[in-house]
Amino acid sequence: MIPLYRPPIVPELEQKMLECLRSGWWGYGPECHRLESRLVEHAGGWAVATSSCTAALHVAGRMLQVSPDDEVIVPAITFVSTPMAFRSCGFRIRVADVDDETLLLTEKTAKPLITNRTRAIVVVHLYGQKAPVEGLRALCDERGISLVEDCAHRLDLDDKDRPLGDYACYSFNAVKEAPAGEGGLLWCLDERLESKGRALSNLGLAGDTWQRSANLQHRDYQFYSEIGLKLRLQDVAATMANVMLDNRRNLHQKRQAVFRYYERALQNCSPELSFAAQLNERVGMIQLSSGARIKSDSTTVETIELCMDRERWLEMKNAEG
Ligand SMILES: Cc1ncc(COP(=O)(O)O)c(C=O)c1O
Repeated sequence: MIPLYRPPIVPELEQKMLECLRSGWWGYGPECHRLESRLVEHAGGWAVATSSCTAALHVAGRMLQVSPDDEVIVPAITFVSTPMAFRSCGFRIRVADVDDETLLLTEKTAKPLITNRTRAIVVVHLYGQKAPVEGLRALCDERGISLVEDCAHRLDLDDKDRPLGDYACYSFNAVKEAPAGEGGLLWCLDERLESKGRALSNLGLAGDTWQRSANLQHRDYQFYSEIGLKLRLQDVAATMANVMLDNRRNLHQKRQAVFRYYERALQNCSPELSFAAQLNERVGMIQLSSGARIKSDSTTVETIELCMDRERWLEMKNAEG
């Protein structure tokens, strides 16, 4: 088996982790706020640090306020978190095909699936490639629906432009660009939605414990404004994420070197097996692609939708011929 990824121990990591541990504040606190601020300084709007990108996608789904039969469109090639997060909010999942070359969702592949029940399109910046968000933004505006960017494979802090989605969701999972074990960020431009987004990721509470204790307002009530889950990040992981973000350029260079190694080693393999993403300035994930993947990934989404296991799905599809 080829190990997927070995998380790097960059020089200042141990020191910063010790500082966090010794500070006595391990839960959601100043390091989470710092992580949020970095994205907000780059993109404007607001951000909340979540326990994972899956959690961020789930909160984005809750913000969309599902009604019965509402649908979201997701690309056929993605990780299962993308459809599952929206399914868990009650949406029906529509699976759109992807571009043959890039494996990305495009305006052309999403458009045929839009119905009057569509609430959002979720675009995935697969393997670090920048998805064609301009076209999708225009399509969403034209049809009055939301755009959610799944940025699990692409931290866009170095991009010239801010995200174009109504929401963008990031991952600090152990194999991602800035690995912190687990972690995520939900970003949104509309400042009127901040208190709702924060509450949904924090048990429906208004305000967080760090802010209240920093202001010595322990006696203040925390109002439950929404039914929310406990999806917030903790400072131990946020410390790690902040250090990794400081080192992201070095980490990208290491990924590019690994990419080149595989590219050389596999150059004489069957043309069916190819790198999905070309080496660009970013390698968010390194993944091999084969023709079978579109089918297998759609299988996952459809099994979620039908609440059946994979074997039964295959039986059903075989019976259909
Ligand atoms: C495209 C995509 N979206 C979402 C996720 C979920 O990220 P997390 O592990 O932070 O929940 C992943 C994880 O691999 C992913 O690849």
